[in-house]
Amino acid sequence: KKRIVSGVQPTGSVHLGNYLGAIKNWIALQNTYETLFFIVDLHAITLPYDTKELSKATRDTAAIYLACGIDASKASVFVQSHVHAHVELMWLLSSATPIGWLNRMIQFKEKSRKAGDENVGVALLTYPVLMASDILLYQSDFVPVGEDQKQHLELTRELAERVNYLYGGRKWKKLGGRGGAIFKVPEPLIPPAGARVMSLTDGLSKMSKSAPSDQSRINLLDPKDVIANKIKRCKTDSFSVLEFDNPERPECNNLLSVYQLVSGKTKEDVAKECQGLNWGSFKPLLTDALIEHLHPIQFQSNMIFSTWLLTGVHENQLLSDLQLV
Ligand code: TYM
Repeated sequence: KKRIVSGVQPTGSVHLGNYLGAIKNWIALQNTYETLFFIVDLHAITLPYDTKELSKATRDTAAIYLACGIDASKASVFVQSHVHAHVELMWLLSSATPIGWLNRMIQFKEKSRKAGDENVGVALLTYPVLMASDILLYQSDFVPVGEDQKQHLELTRELAERVNYLYGGRKWKKLGGRGGAIFKVPEPLIPPAGARVMSLTDGLSKMSKSAPSDQSRINLLDPKDVIANKIKRCKTDSFSVLEFDNPERPECNNLLSVYQLVSGKTKEDVAKECQGLNWGSFKPLLTDALIEHLHPIQFQSNMIFSTWLLTGVHENQLLSDLQLV
């Protein structure tokens, strides 16, 4: 069986971008492939964090994986820091990683610019090496992620090739890179729609956990009235009807794509359905589709939280104690 790995950072709450760009696409894969889905807590400490919040977010993220339909009897679900080999491999890989490769990473440049030099730990720079070790450790074939991870995946591939070249030995060289490799070179799986869900308040920036305004994102566990309110207030434009793929209308394209994904319709059907609609008539449709799609996830996650509560699981208890793995 081909192998798939992926993960989400336990920072803040899981939002619609994480879901449509990644988690939702993991569900179908667990039936066909060997899948490993982890909660990448070690990546979450590369920016300032609160230990209590981190442990709560780690458990919450695990609950969301399960509530979204990850089946722990098919997939391996675990916390990255519980498997020490991730960090051990990272150290070995970092000795083969040219520092220039890391300096070029867009996410590093953006995050370090925001935080300021004095607040940037070395781990923010070496973050992609840890991500590469998460993937290469398991000789993964595919990695389902959103578009913002494309560059990190490219680095992972280059690093695998470099290690194979440097340390693959004679067999690797003799076979011209077709055998005797140390690492498999993994492929990203980036979905055709949903790979880049944009902010509700600015169609040119991506929906993110770190944006200061909660109005800019739909969190998977947002109550109905909060979702309705966020859609009511989200940014639109002054064109009269709705359309896909107009570069001057990023908000319109984004909201139509979200509608397409949560309603389960095709792009053509949505284009047809919405071509005569204005914002006033589209927003209630989108709100209803979102609430309906998220309802079972919210129901399931409530069940999981109540079970944990009833069985006496405390907030700071390690996830391994929950026997999820
Ligand atoms: P993270 O926690 O930032 O995001 C988790 C997943 O959600 C996707 N994503 C989005 N997709 C569409 N639209 C958006 N607005 C949006 N925002 C986030 C991300 O692309 C990602 O797939 N470095 C990774 C976590 C990681 C990882 C790994 C992933 C660590 N090791 C190994 C795969 C394999 C990250 O920070 O994701």
